[in-house]
Amino acid sequence: MFGTTRPVGVVLCLLLWGAGGIADTGGEEVWRRLEQLREQVRYHDHLYYVEHAPEISDAEYDRLHRELEDLEKAHPNLITPDSPTQRVARGFLDPGSERLPHSSPVLSLHKAYTHGELRAFDARLRNELGAEERIAYSVEPKLDGLCIVLRYENGVLKRALSRGDGLVGEDVTANVRTIPSVPLRLLGPDLPRFYEVRGEVVMPLASFENLNRVREEGGESVFANPRAAAAGSLQLHSPAEVAKRTLDVCVFGFRGCLGDAPVNQAEFLTQVREFGFKVPEGVQRCDGIGEVEKAVREWEKRRHGLPYATDGVVVKVADFRLRERLGNGLAAPRWAVAYKFTPPTGTVRLRDVVWQTGRSGRLSPVAVFDPVVLAGATLSRASLHSWKNILAKDLMLGDWIEVKKAGAVIPAVVRSHPDRRRGHEKPPALPVHCPSCHAALRTQANHEPRCLNKDCPARLAAALAYFAGPGAMDIDGLGPALCKCLVDHGLARLPHDLYTMSEDSWRRLSELPEMGQGRVEQLRRAIRQSRGQPAWRHLVGLGIPGVGPATARRLLDRFGSLEALGEATADDLIQVNGIGPRTAAAIRLHINEAWRR
Ligand code: IVH
Repeated sequence: MFGTTRPVGVVLCLLLWGAGGIADTGGEEVWRRLEQLREQVRYHDHLYYVEHAPEISDAEYDRLHRELEDLEKAHPNLITPDSPTQRVARGFLDPGSERLPHSSPVLSLHKAYTHGELRAFDARLRNELGAEERIAYSVEPKLDGLCIVLRYENGVLKRALSRGDGLVGEDVTANVRTIPSVPLRLLGPDLPRFYEVRGEVVMPLASFENLNRVREEGGESVFANPRAAAAGSLQLHSPAEVAKRTLDVCVFGFRGCLGDAPVNQAEFLTQVREFGFKVPEGVQRCDGIGEVEKAVREWEKRRHGLPYATDGVVVKVADFRLRERLGNGLAAPRWAVAYKFTPPTGTVRLRDVVWQTGRSGRLSPVAVFDPVVLAGATLSRASLHSWKNILAKDLMLGDWIEVKKAGAVIPAVVRSHPDRRRGHEKPPALPVHCPSCHAALRTQANHEPRCLNKDCPARLAAALAYFAGPGAMDIDGLGPALCKCLVDHGLARLPHDLYTMSEDSWRRLSELPEMGQGRVEQLRRAIRQSRGQPAWRHLVGLGIPGVGPATARRLLDRFGSLEALGEATADDLIQVNGIGPRTAAAIRLHINEAWRR
């Protein structure tokens, strides 16, 4: 119940490596067991985070991880920086605190916006190479994130540099180490003495949406797209915070390799996968530009099917010898081109701005517009995030507005067209009453209206949905609409009520037209099963500001149970790494309230 479960590696090493710790008395046997455990944990982390195909249960994994942690605690001077427990670790500098030169310039890519430009690119290369035959290309998604350069020495991750200006990058090693799909040590027996890979740090769309939802509910500003969220995360000064951000790295290029160097992109991708890295999904080898165009057309259709935001495809000469012959220009290689997708946008009439009350009581505005089909989905609403944003975008009811699927998935209002106004448009207004409970709102100096009624149905339903959501108890089938229904019909108000609903309440629920007996049975089963979720998920579900999965796990590691946590004083709480006085006070308040109500 209180297992560590993944993501792992938030254990802080209390000793500095190589600082000449106390001589260990464990002997060779301990070292052998440590190495064995590290290798096993590394292997299972790879299966879980990179291959997404775990071979063992979470409980079995937890046992291995716990044994490794315990053994390392007992023998701290045998801890190595590449141990899977050391993802969040001391001894690495803050991001940006050191600027270091790249081993070779990190170039950009030339862009193409039309198929004609792609054909011109191919014609230019064939001309330069004097090629009669078709050139083989590698066609890959262009991931919309941040370029990162990872340097390994004797198989161990030594340095992660951001792109910077292409010549000098920023040292972001401490933050990148927390990304589970980055191997701290390469997999396999024959490791190169020096190996440098280049790839993209990306935030999966699902994590991006989740992060923004949490930020919005907590009254924080939201990120415009997954790239901005990934960039913001890499700049954080707390690796433990970065670990919570669920970032990924996909590798697409390399430099410097001893041994059997790959001769083309496919061989390289196979090699780098064997070393334990993630590579972009759906890379295709195309014979000639005709096949490239076909692949690009397919990508245009399926770009929204990837777990990451993509802003185009990269077309690269597959053969490395040909790449060498073509060489690099000052800013970009001559052997590759980025074909950029046009972001799907539509121009529609803004009909209304409605306000939604979140679980913290913060109201956020939502634009309601005429339905439009973008990227295969019909949209008619988009979050406007804040009043400030409404003013900045100069939005009036009745305006023609441009909407797009930002970050490939979240609809957003790009701009209004004030030049097309006819005089009947009206400015939207700040609400004075909560749209759900009609209580008078408190509007802060920053114009963020708040509903202070703790019994507000919208707040209760949002809190229930957060508790049941994928980041917390993950109760299958219990989404926001059903939570609203439970609250509106007086069947549940607080998370605790889900587990104590009477037979009469269940019967009433099954009699609702949108439910039926089958759905209710499924829901009852899912709620019953959620009792087996680890306690940290329960704690996260309470929605305490500052208590995400990593903090929740640490708190439960320290106090053992939610009950014991409820007894802890603020002084006890701030002893836990990462808990400051504000979070401690919030924990005490929330836990008391959860039990009082
Ligand atoms: S290859 C010499 N492949 O796009 C540069 N880049 O606009 C070779 N990117 O800085 C880059 N996905 O950060 C390459 N599959 C991919 C990529 C990719 C995203 C980024 C990369 C680069 C930027 C250039």
